[in-house]
Amino acid sequence: MDSDNTNKRKILVTSALPYANSSLHLGHILEAVQTDIWVRFHNLNGNECLYFCADDTHGTPVMLKAKEDGINPEQLISEVKKDHMETYELYDINFTNFHSTHSDENKKYSEFIYNKAKEKDLITRKTIKQLYDEKESMFLSDRFVKGACPKCNEEDQYGDGCSKCGATYDVSDIKNPISALSGTKPIYKNSEHIFFNLPKQANLLKEFLKKSDLQKPIVNKLSEWLNDDLQQWDISRDAPYFGFNIPSEIDKYFYVWLDAPIGYIASIDNWANSNNKKIEDLWSKDSEYEIYHFIGKDIAYFHGLFWPALLDSADLKLPNGIYVHGFLTINGEKMSKSKGTGILAREFADISDPELLRYYFAAKLNDKVEDIDLNLEDYVTRINSDLVGKYCNIASRCSSFIKKNNNELTEEIDNEFIADIVLKKDLLVNHYNSRNYSKAIRLIMDIADDVNKYINDSTPWKKDLNEAVEIASTAIYAFRILSIYLSPIIPKITKNAFGFLNTEKNSFEDLDLAIEKPINNYTPLLNRLEPIEIKKDEPMNDNNYIDIKQFAEIDLRVAKIVKASNVEGADKLLKLNLDVGDLGERQVFAGIKKSYDPQDLKDKLVILVSNLEPRQMKFGLSEGMVLASSDNEGIYLISPDSGAKPGLRVK
Ligand code: MSP
Ligand code: ZN
Repeated sequence: MDSDNTNKRKILVTSALPYANSSLHLGHILEAVQTDIWVRFHNLNGNECLYFCADDTHGTPVMLKAKEDGINPEQLISEVKKDHMETYELYDINFTNFHSTHSDENKKYSEFIYNKAKEKDLITRKTIKQLYDEKESMFLSDRFVKGACPKCNEEDQYGDGCSKCGATYDVSDIKNPISALSGTKPIYKNSEHIFFNLPKQANLLKEFLKKSDLQKPIVNKLSEWLNDDLQQWDISRDAPYFGFNIPSEIDKYFYVWLDAPIGYIASIDNWANSNNKKIEDLWSKDSEYEIYHFIGKDIAYFHGLFWPALLDSADLKLPNGIYVHGFLTINGEKMSKSKGTGILAREFADISDPELLRYYFAAKLNDKVEDIDLNLEDYVTRINSDLVGKYCNIASRCSSFIKKNNNELTEEIDNEFIADIVLKKDLLVNHYNSRNYSKAIRLIMDIADDVNKYINDSTPWKKDLNEAVEIASTAIYAFRILSIYLSPIIPKITKNAFGFLNTEKNSFEDLDLAIEKPINNYTPLLNRLEPIEIKKDEPMNDNNYIDIKQFAEIDLRVAKIVKASNVEGADKLLKLNLDVGDLGERQVFAGIKKSYDPQDLKDKLVILVSNLEPRQMKFGLSEGMVLASSDNEGIYLISPDSGAKPGLRVK
């Protein structure tokens, strides 16, 4: 098959930027896998497809999480970025570049786009009344206000909606509002905010909905919003806020959702600068590159309305399409940390090979906005029946015949049988391109069934070696094509398959190439999966004892508090200087300020976890942890009886 370079598409692709205040969960991975398969497919099919992402670092949750951990936001986001990148790597997500919204490039483009919008008279100002926490000196977004639901009176609900009756309401309607930060009663305070004039862009947005590649239900939803009550969009937040200062304003910051999508461009620019490319050739009105965003259904508003309106105000190219997926549920339940159903991506990688989850997600993904369920029983069944039982089975059944032929394939294969499989390529390409991966997998597994049937019917084990080698060679050729067909989905397994086949060119254009070199001995590409059970965060039971060795790894020591002092800028922490006998002096930051006065702590004996990895906090290095228990009323340090000497091991 010859490739036609003039038809080569150039494509920029993004996944939504994960928030930098927590680790990735399997919902994030679902999105990344959906995107990554599409990108890999296009590159294997002769197009140029580049994949960009970044961490979404700004906003109140990141700021508060850093404060809670006693570190700078900068330190938090750099730790989280490392964690995110490592986790994506586990799942073989092949970004062209993974950047951060807290970057020079992003600051530059945020200011650029804002200034352009200002020139076009799309920026307005208005004074608004907002809840304010006087203790924390901070305006409160809806998420940080709690109170009783105005509809059903349920206590302890967030400012934006009720978890009991499902009502959504304006935060000003909530009864007896309380700041979730300090527990104090907030007051109303005025503040001037900066707005983006979205209604002025309504016509442009209507055009956008007509022209770009969007799913039907998304177009409907966006049109509804567009025709309903399009509001000016509040793009400023008052200090304290972790974000970018708005040019020519004092103590005003860009709202996180203003600079977050601009992070797509920043990530591309960051890559372009170190790869001898120009951003103008990649993302501009007359660039040859098509632009597609992959996102979840919860953020369609931002991407379908705010984002094109912003891009247009800066005369930048609008996305060619936005591809929206549904939410991941696990064993039929919404992901929730408290119920133990929100599986972290790292945790899952410890229980099962991430590559197999890619396959399972692909088997369920289509071009709809439907939710997708990860059922662990179904997962095991699916992997065993498809990948082990159908795909790998072909190689494992046939390799023994080839081995008897010095691992050489014969040219005398059933060409017609192979040609039929090659002919399926066009249909498969369609399925991949339209994100109907479930259909792609059905097609591929149907072919695998055909190949297994071909082997069964041809009974190579009853034939003489020549004929057996012909049958086995035909099947191995088919296995090669199946491996190419599957390679966007399971890149690692198919890479090993190509290693077994001793072939180097394995793109969608290489289906017809002869396998000329001897193949290698077959070692299983995959073993059958055993049933999986995910442990929930439950109290200790018979099944999760630790052994004495694990316990002995924790080096607990008696320590004496030499000095305890307040830490400037930290509401919860005390700094403790400890005498740990033969281990010397240690400095530890402990979150016990609420229950202890520093003066009362001098000479108190405590228990120190002495071999905990030291942690660099904003206020200094914390070299271990002291043991304490706590409940709603207070924090209680654990102390050995008097007489215990500093440095003694606790066993
Ligand atoms: N930071 C924003 C996105 C900014 S894009 C310019 C954000 N972050 S997020 O971490 O909450 O979500 C990142 C992506 O993961 C979103 O597309 C979101 O829809 C998706 N998912 C989050 N939970 C999900 C599931 N349970 N299932 C599938 N996708 C989910 O939103
Ligand atoms: Zn309610």
